[in-house]
Amino acid sequence: MKYLIANWKSNKKLAEVEKFFTKINKLYQSDKEYNLNSLEIVVCPPFVYLPLAKKMVERYKLPIKLGAQDVSPFQEGAYTGGVTASMLSEFVEYVIIGHSERRNYFKEGRGLLVQKVKKVVEAKLTPIFCIQSDQTLIPKEVKMVAFEPVEAIGTGKPETPERATQVAESVKKQNQNVNTVLYGGSVTPDNIKSFVATRHIDGVLVGGASLEGDKFWEMIVNVSDI
Ligand code: PGA
Repeated sequence: MKYLIANWKSNKKLAEVEKFFTKINKLYQSDKEYNLNSLEIVVCPPFVYLPLAKKMVERYKLPIKLGAQDVSPFQEGAYTGGVTASMLSEFVEYVIIGHSERRNYFKEGRGLLVQKVKKVVEAKLTPIFCIQSDQTLIPKEVKMVAFEPVEAIGTGKPETPERATQVAESVKKQNQNVNTVLYGGSVTPDNIKSFVATRHIDGVLVGGASLEGDKFWEMIVNVSDI
């Protein structure tokens, strides 16, 4: 199985979410010859758009799953602003944890990230744990990791596929529980295949290039035959 995961970050208005899924549906309907059986496509919108995204995916019967970009480290209760893993489980199957933007801008550290991973696993969701190098500590419950070198995120300067696959191999060697390593950082329709086709990379986590429906569809098509 290969993974194409879209991280929308803090982007889009309600109408744009609708437009995205309508566009994907149009392309999907007119372009059905692609074999998507071995590709897991996941879209991670901001929390507030999850109900709409779920409705659109169901309405059009799209081969897309949903993910969240963050989660509360606590259970339900008096934790103002917290969106819990069990709330998310009505909408998503995946949760991104420890993205470098959360680590840098929101000052999230290891203890907090471990707590989040635990909550996500308890809710039977899959954490996508982001690491910045093969030296980043990975909680033992984690099976899916996204290698995202900070210099490559949003800069148009991706890591080379050769180096990325080396890191993926090293991560799998050092962490027996990790069976899936994604690459993230300036992935585009043009370079996506070069990452996904490498031996140790199981998919990609895409930010900027996942925001427009037609660009996202182009990426789906480009990896559908791998
Ligand atoms: P980018 O972001 O594709 O815009 O570089 C990747 C990510 O941060 O997940």
